[in-house]
Amino acid sequence: MAQEHFLNPPMPDVIASWKFYLEQLDIKPGDSVLDVGCNTGDTEHFLISLFPFVNKVVGLDYDENRIAVAKETWESKGKNEKIEFIQGDGSALPFNDNTFDKIICAETLEWIKDPKTAIKEIKRVLKPNGIALIQHTDWDQTVYTTTNIEKTRLIIQSFGDSGPDGIIGRRLLVMCKQVGFNKVSPLVYTMINDKFEEPYYSFKLAKMIKDWLLTKKIINNEELESWISELKEMSLNDEFYFSINRNICVCYK
Ligand SMILES: C[S@@+](CC[C@H](N)C(=O)[O-])C[C@H]1O[C@@H](n2cnc3c(N)ncnc32)[C@H](O)[C@@H]1O
Repeated sequence: MAQEHFLNPPMPDVIASWKFYLEQLDIKPGDSVLDVGCNTGDTEHFLISLFPFVNKVVGLDYDENRIAVAKETWESKGKNEKIEFIQGDGSALPFNDNTFDKIICAETLEWIKDPKTAIKEIKRVLKPNGIALIQHTDWDQTVYTTTNIEKTRLIIQSFGDSGPDGIIGRRLLVMCKQVGFNKVSPLVYTMINDKFEEPYYSFKLAKMIKDWLLTKKIINNEELESWISELKEMSLNDEFYFSINRNICVCYK
């Protein structure tokens, strides 16, 4: 339920947020970087474009199909030897202790049965003095301007509550501290949109929310369509505002 595909076509707001996340990792020449829950691999290509001097970027995902697509895209983009994709489980990482200089885990813990075990695994495979960035949205903190606030609240709350753990964002800090990193710095990145149209995240997210709630049979198509039409109209009238908070823990080992 996140940003996922942001390079093709490019989503400027999502790209800006990824740039912010990656900057927190202080990536240095020769670093080996792991991305837990890499989906189809946009982050790996984006990271290499920003930091071509890294030694290696490994994208790991549990879903074989996503890894297959990541590998196909990697081939079509010229098989950069610094990028590798691996199918694996975030709660039992297939790497030795102290392997990576930097680790990213974005929007993934919600989908892992025992997120604290996954954070422990991240700490285990991180080198001493390494940095991990663990990020999760708290879906209750999704703000769309609207004239019908009751309906918007219902839609946002139903979306968050029907996922595996839509409010994990507010528990990240406690979980990361409990795992025993040397230091954990909490941050919030707020993405803001003042337009409801392609290629902005708010537009893509509203469609994602609609499809999700229809699949779950929680709110009917008519209600969701009229919500989206209202957002479009507000945007045409220059009255649109959207913000979403990305909760981040920068963890130092
Ligand atoms: C919402 S996507 C986030 C993708 C990307 N990190 C982002 O920020 O857009 C969650 C990803 O976690 C993966 N995932 C779910 N359970 C996992 C597990 N146990 N180990 C590794 N990846 C997992 C899913 O297949 C999916 O690609």
